[in-house]
Amino acid sequence: MPPGKIYLDGNSLGLLSRDAEATLKQTLHAWRDLAIGGWLEAERPWFTLAETLGARCAALVGARPDEVVMSGTTTVNIHALVHTFYRPEGRRTRILAGGLDFPSDIYALKSILRLRGFDPDEHLVLAPSRNGHTLGEDDIVRLMDDRTALVFLPSVLYRSGQLLNMELLTRRARERGIPIGFDCAHSVGAVPHELSKWGVDFAVWCSYKYLSGGPGSTAFLYLNRAHFDREPALAGWFGSIKEKQFDMSLDFEPARSAGGWQISSPSILSAAPLIGALGIFEEAGMTAVRKKSLALTHFLMEMADDLLAPEPFGFSVATPRQDESRGGHVALAHPEAMRISEALRARGVVPDFRPPDIVRIAPVALYNTHTELWRLVAHLRDIVTSREYEKFPTQRPPIS
Ligand SMILES: Cc1ncc(COP(=O)(O)O)c(C=O)c1O
Repeated sequence: MPPGKIYLDGNSLGLLSRDAEATLKQTLHAWRDLAIGGWLEAERPWFTLAETLGARCAALVGARPDEVVMSGTTTVNIHALVHTFYRPEGRRTRILAGGLDFPSDIYALKSILRLRGFDPDEHLVLAPSRNGHTLGEDDIVRLMDDRTALVFLPSVLYRSGQLLNMELLTRRARERGIPIGFDCAHSVGAVPHELSKWGVDFAVWCSYKYLSGGPGSTAFLYLNRAHFDREPALAGWFGSIKEKQFDMSLDFEPARSAGGWQISSPSILSAAPLIGALGIFEEAGMTAVRKKSLALTHFLMEMADDLLAPEPFGFSVATPRQDESRGGHVALAHPEAMRISEALRARGVVPDFRPPDIVRIAPVALYNTHTELWRLVAHLRDIVTSREYEKFPTQRPPIS
């Protein structure tokens, strides 16, 4: 925990664990002592680290070991997988996504459509929200029609924290013969998944949020075994069959696993903290992590109703109440959310702000407590009654 802080932003950047620090240091020392030899001789050889960490992460998302690989970044993985699965044919030319998705996902989808010769205004369908915070699964399903070539959705909405019913959405897409993928950046490490059992076609996620891999740490991708015989759309030499990669043939032979979707050399130093960080999840187990996470978010919402909703406080909870529809964070809506977030930070409490009106609070199961949430609520009441937030500028800081 950063000294003197109440840190409630682990869904933007998870905290450093001692185990992650230790494996980062071990990896630095392996570079110093082994140099190029580290690719094969490091304790966890770098040449196969993407596959090794992928197999460990697979256990967190209910996938088989060879269905997950560590690779690149979330947005690059979206490009690699959506290009692979988007096969417009006849009337089926549209991509269905959500109207409250993280902007980078939408930028990627629009650029993919443009590259493939389709106008995103016409061919990207965004499921609308009825209340500005959540999406209705029924509304999404209604939009899966004979013009839909692909569905790509978030597991947890980054602003409100709504957890979509991935199992149901996958079943409905499959019944209609439409491939479906998920951006699980806001659910992995907070919520258990059963990606293989549900039959999800593909998924992507980062490792710097709940997984605590460090700033800009390497992302992961999942590909259902049923698709191992496909051609990776964005080919690169690290996707090669391992035994053949150094044959240096000009003909690409992709690994018949999620590993085939790697593009470049893995960023070993950005992956090193994950060697330790994943061990903590293996030790705790996702069931226990989810139980504690739900208890924390439930406690915060109850306090918000009793202590933050009444006048003059004026907060409302934008996150679904049902456990099965809630990810790992709580969105507190307030017209002065931006300046209130700044006032919290000045008091050593770290939330984040998401425009236009959300103070986003992520009580992380592995390191946050009920007491910290109690203290957060006391700070919020104080900031509003004293109008302390009025001291802060009305322009948004570069990172909020
Ligand atoms: C839901 C979601 N998708 C995608 C991204 C972008 O990830 P990256 O910077 O790894 O491409 C983020 C970043 O926070 C995110 O929250």
